[in-house]
Amino acid sequence: MAAQKNRLKIRALVAGNWKMNGSKKDLSELRKLATAMKPTKSGGQVKAEVMICPPATLLPRMADVKAKGIALGGQDCHANINGAHTGDISAEMLKEAGAKAVIIGHSERRADHNESDKIVRAKVEAAHRAGLMAIMCIGESLKQRKAGETLKVVQGQLRGSLPDGCTAKNTVIAYEPVWAIGSGLTPSVEQVGEVHTALRKALMRRFGDEGAKTRILYGGSVKPANAEELMAVPHVNGALVGGASLKAQDFYGILKAYL
Ligand code: PGA
Repeated sequence: MAAQKNRLKIRALVAGNWKMNGSKKDLSELRKLATAMKPTKSGGQVKAEVMICPPATLLPRMADVKAKGIALGGQDCHANINGAHTGDISAEMLKEAGAKAVIIGHSERRADHNESDKIVRAKVEAAHRAGLMAIMCIGESLKQRKAGETLKVVQGQLRGSLPDGCTAKNTVIAYEPVWAIGSGLTPSVEQVGEVHTALRKALMRRFGDEGAKTRILYGGSVKPANAEELMAVPHVNGALVGGASLKAQDFYGILKAYL
């Protein structure tokens, strides 16, 4: 498999971001996914770490399902431990509910909730404080890509959104071009490679060996049909998947890149 080359060095992570989707009945998708992932005589074992990030309401329910080999994550957290923040959830609460990780700084949060790099950085710190792995998202808009600003934009977001003390264990980067999210469009493998290589260099400059080992996921319209190709790009260490993570069959189709 083409994705094998990348996975030899760093264990990949494929995380499903359910966004504001899913209810009690969809717990069956988690069970189906766990069943599909069971190694059989004919099929091998998925080598990547697998995670589902459901809405917070489903997190404890999913934790009760105890789906073997599937970790859970939250989708956002507040920077504080507790307090008068109506509607918010702290990293500690997510951890208690069964999360191992939390997505932070998704472009939908940055756009819908005006989250700046500074706010994102404080949330990454909160995740680390709670013992959660932060999956920190960055990505350029179509306008920025067309203006040739992609590398400048993502490097700036990376610099501004990561606190000191990030390690390969407590932090994952997700490169998600805003124009590729939910659109069915994906950058070419060359474009993905260019960004991931630049991010790897920036991570190494700042975090040394930890930066060399930190996983950099690609996200934006990943589906079974393009997963193999995208996951084989140098410095792509997994995927953050939205729409195609909602159905076990589609998500497993993506995981097949890591069989
Ligand atoms: P998509 O979303 O796979 O539906 O494009 C990816 C994401 O927003 O994480």
